[in-house]
Amino acid sequence: MDRIRIRGGNRLTGTIPISGAKNAALPLMIVSLLTPGTLTLSNVPRLADVRQLQRILQNHGVDIMVAGKRPGQNGMQGDVKQLSAKVIADTTAPYELVSKMRASFWVLGPLLARCGEAKVSLPGGCAIGTRPVDMHLLAMEKLGAEIAIENGYVIANAKKGLKGAHIAFDKVSVGATHAALMASVLADGDTIIENAASEPEIGDVAECLVKMGARIEGIHTSTLKVRGVTSLTGAEHSVIPDRIETGTYAMCVAMAGGDVLLKDANSGHLSAVIDIMRGAGIGVESTNEGIRIHRNGHALEPVKIDTEPYPGFPTDCQAQLMALMTKADGTSMIRETIFENRFMHVQELARLGADIHLHGDTAEVRGVKKLTGAPVMATDLRASVSLVIAGLVAEGETTINRVYHLDRGFETLEEKLSACGADVTRISGS
Ligand code: EPZ
Repeated sequence: MDRIRIRGGNRLTGTIPISGAKNAALPLMIVSLLTPGTLTLSNVPRLADVRQLQRILQNHGVDIMVAGKRPGQNGMQGDVKQLSAKVIADTTAPYELVSKMRASFWVLGPLLARCGEAKVSLPGGCAIGTRPVDMHLLAMEKLGAEIAIENGYVIANAKKGLKGAHIAFDKVSVGATHAALMASVLADGDTIIENAASEPEIGDVAECLVKMGARIEGIHTSTLKVRGVTSLTGAEHSVIPDRIETGTYAMCVAMAGGDVLLKDANSGHLSAVIDIMRGAGIGVESTNEGIRIHRNGHALEPVKIDTEPYPGFPTDCQAQLMALMTKADGTSMIRETIFENRFMHVQELARLGADIHLHGDTAEVRGVKKLTGAPVMATDLRASVSLVIAGLVAEGETTINRVYHLDRGFETLEEKLSACGADVTRISGS
């Protein structure tokens, strides 16, 4: 298994290109199941999760073509992928594929909408929590599907087609909102989705569906109104920039010190993160090229945050903020309200000298003067990058094992950081 080795102490200067959003690219690829036409997606990030989803969609019969390099293109632009689900050959998403990438469970809605049936493996839990899908199933039943659970699979049927419905979620769920939206666009009649998640990635998917002929109102709000249509066409759509990657690299610069342009970042998608960073004394400026992050020597102020659904502080940036705050001048309080076990990075940060005390859903992070390098273990996607952030300032060498977690969500991380002066190297493992 590959490892990443970081020698701390270098400031970061230059430009980091922000890739297309993983959490938009995945549902956008799934949306290809809703039409026999060709969906052309650009700015698709080159990530392990994208490659895994590709395997799952191809198993359903989706033809996927990746455009080759064009003259003048540099290696940092995202892929252009053409996805065509002319005929869906198989409505089963098998355990051995779904268990490797949870979001593939989201094929349930489109398969039901397009084919009237689906057999999708339950995704199971993961490092950060049990990750139930009850709200997904509730939404499908509201739309008229019959749902049974057998041998770890969801068996769903809607032979007479799906019918528009009023779906009111009792809590905000990104995945359940995607599921309800993707199923309702081909349902007979009107659907209202109340208490919908309003993350930018949901809006990106909704805007793509409208290009395909869907009729959706309330995009980017917590109430979506959908008027079902009988079919959708292909379309062309570019994936929005990744706000979590943006927040992550912003915290890398804040930790290491320096001055970096996060190219193509959209500051409108992470105002809560920007507010918290400015409160910590970090320079953050929106420019017409992206977001400039700078900190030159002055102290990091401690923060107090709760993670919340959008537009609140994103849970996917919680581990990164915690790593940053291990070096603050004072004590920070970070409360995780979305997932029940998203503090796996605490013990690993402690190995580097961080002083963190857990009180239930809240981490008390007491700033220390120094972190020292050590071997550490990546446990999940965002926890692994928090170790990179700490390693950028830890004295000596930090080696992060199991970086396959990192590769799921961060495209060429070591190249992007090394190009700005970090001493980061990937060591290929057996
Ligand atoms: C999406 O996961 C993201 N994944 C996660 O990013 C992100 O952390 C999460 O949304 C929250 O923003 C993708 O977009 C691929 P949820 P999802 O449904 O949809 C509970 C990353 O690092 N819940 O919004 O699975 C759930 O347990 C990943 O890129 C139910 O109870 O998250 C959680 O407590 C990690 N029943 C809360 O809702 C359900 O049916 C929010 O989960 C569904 C969810």
